[in-house]
Amino acid sequence: MQTHTPARRFITLGQFIIERQSDFPYAKGELSRLLRDIGIAAKIVNREVNKAGLADILGDHGDVNVQGEDQKKLDVYANEQFIKALGAGGECIAIASEENEDLIEIDSKVSKNARYVVCIDPLDGSSNIDVNVSIGTIFSIYRRKEEMEGPTRLEDFLQKGVEQVAAGYVIYGSSTMLVYTTGKGVNGFTLDPSIGEFCLSHPDMMIPEDGAIYSINEGNYKHFPEGVKEFLRYCQEEDKASKRPYSTRYIGSLVADFHRNMIKGGIYIYPSTGKAKNGKLRLLYECNPLAFIIEQAGGKASDGFRRILDLQPETLHQRTPLFIGSANMVTKAEELMAKFSAVQA
Ligand code: AHG
Ligand code: MN
Ligand code: MN
Repeated sequence: MQTHTPARRFITLGQFIIERQSDFPYAKGELSRLLRDIGIAAKIVNREVNKAGLADILGDHGDVNVQGEDQKKLDVYANEQFIKALGAGGECIAIASEENEDLIEIDSKVSKNARYVVCIDPLDGSSNIDVNVSIGTIFSIYRRKEEMEGPTRLEDFLQKGVEQVAAGYVIYGSSTMLVYTTGKGVNGFTLDPSIGEFCLSHPDMMIPEDGAIYSINEGNYKHFPEGVKEFLRYCQEEDKASKRPYSTRYIGSLVADFHRNMIKGGIYIYPSTGKAKNGKLRLLYECNPLAFIIEQAGGKASDGFRRILDLQPETLHQRTPLFIGSANMVTKAEELMAKFSAVQA
């Protein structure tokens, strides 16, 4: 008799979402379909990201590609793909995107009764597109407020981060991964290009409580708040017991810096600078989704003084300073901010 030992079962993103449907308090299937739509768009964007360097070779005269379509900048292309996928899926009623000043309402029969809004940074790390360095996508999903009917209003989007029902990111790196949470832990999936599926590769991701990496654009040092300067001094001090001095690692793609620090332990900081008193990063589609993920993974996210997820958004593209990563490192940075810097209004 022949015996057969089944290989370890691999779980695709689609299977995993269905298995975890019961974690979700609202109608079963709705969120699954939304996440599935995002996964599909991510695969299409991934395909384009992978051949980014070929664009000029394949395009005619540099502005028209072989299909006769205008060649678009990759962040515009990514934006279009996510809007298209979310629009066709039927669960999303409106989108707030970094690439669009105003809300994008989905005007279609299938989405008439949709209950979800999505905030998205379709392509994060744009300055790295042309140089073959990791870039990403960040998304955040809210349920419309119960009392809201009819067309979307700004209030549907101006909810605190604690109200998110799901959030995630895609990293287009040496491999492509999709990482998301629905508030029951964080799970990571790696795209297997041979079968075109995201497969569960990083179940129950947790960030180490301590780390030895700090990520910040030190070019802006002169204009950092005193509390941040003190924290950098602390990171650079010799202390063998706590692995200091720490290492600096800064890719300049938030998703990639965040992803590395989540796996290895570390802190990412984008503080206020001389140019921008609220820093550079946007609350709705950069800070809130990553703050939700980091807290679910056991880490912390703060604006230096307050928990990111408790901030009340006032506008769609509002910016906030961000301190995010290993819990003990963020706590230390907050201590020094409280001692040496004043709260930004
Ligand atoms: P985006 O490409 O979506 O505009 O975001 C860029 C952000 C973020 O990804 C990165 O961490 C940060 O900008 C880098 O800014 P600096 O070049 O000022 O360090
Ligand atoms: Mn970004
Ligand atoms: Mn972007």
